[in-house]
Amino acid sequence: MTGHPIPVIIDCDTGVDDALALLFAVRHPGLDLRAVTCVAGNTDVDGVVHNTLTVLEQAGAPDIPVARGAERPLIEPARSARHVHGVDGMGDLGLPAPRRGRAAVDAVTLLYREILASPTPVTLIPTAPLTNIALLLRTHPEVTRNIERIVFMGGAVATGNATPVAEFNVWHDPEAAAILLGAGVPITMYGLDVFTRVVVPGADVRRLRASKEPGTRLAGELLAHRPSAPDPDGDDPAGGLGDAGAVCAVADPAGIGTRLLPVEVSLAPGPTRGQTIVDRRARHGESEIHHGAREQALVDVALEVDVDRYVKLYLETVERRHATRP
Ligand code: BDR
Ligand code: CA
Repeated sequence: MTGHPIPVIIDCDTGVDDALALLFAVRHPGLDLRAVTCVAGNTDVDGVVHNTLTVLEQAGAPDIPVARGAERPLIEPARSARHVHGVDGMGDLGLPAPRRGRAAVDAVTLLYREILASPTPVTLIPTAPLTNIALLLRTHPEVTRNIERIVFMGGAVATGNATPVAEFNVWHDPEAAAILLGAGVPITMYGLDVFTRVVVPGADVRRLRASKEPGTRLAGELLAHRPSAPDPDGDDPAGGLGDAGAVCAVADPAGIGTRLLPVEVSLAPGPTRGQTIVDRRARHGESEIHHGAREQALVDVALEVDVDRYVKLYLETVERRHATRP
């Protein structure tokens, strides 16, 4: 690795796999995690703040500011995913309450300050509904001058999860996702098409769970809470990296294959609401011929992922000794 670490900010709804993402971000030497902002999603926003502080503490992370953000989407009510992430939103692991506290400012203020204070442009990594990011872009649009790019976990080219066609983060706050796509900075969509594919084999999960080091052990416990398809190599549960894959895509962009494609969020009520409509056609169709092209954001959409490469990267990173900030 050469050069300075990439300054990154994670906006999350911790969240079992958001926790995996945080553990990776604080331990990867190529990333400088400057702040974490929290939003309602997998659980209520106060639970998200609590879970986020807990993860940072277990990871032995430096004093990274954590701020509370939106407690509900722009228009929709909050709709949690506790059936996936547990009653506490992070796998009900019974971890001790964190000693560290949250920042005195709200998420939008922290994002604004940290982005503009960074000596080099920041990479934003939202792994949650996009409410905080939309509020930031509408409140302080000048931040885009110091954003390198946004790599977000959300959307799907093919199949959804919250609905047959809509992925949870975009479905939870479709208007916010539409605002994000119009940010005018380079955007990478790490959607369900790649998100579901990166799975850590059961034997590795077992090794992590047996670790004496709290952060490494937590990664194992979290992965065990994300069982994917039965592990082909044994009885131990294999676990999907989920949101952590989006952070891998920042640390190691060559691990994904992307195409620059027009993407639009369906805001219509009904069965398509929250769908990310990705235009993969080779040429315009009759709609554009008769009515003109629609204005759409061009997004680097992740279509391929090198699974082995990201599993190896993740394991090497979370099993390393405490990351220290220079
Ligand atoms: C997304 O939804 C949440 O449940 C996960 O944390 C991830 O960000 C996947 O659809
Ligand atoms: Ca998430």
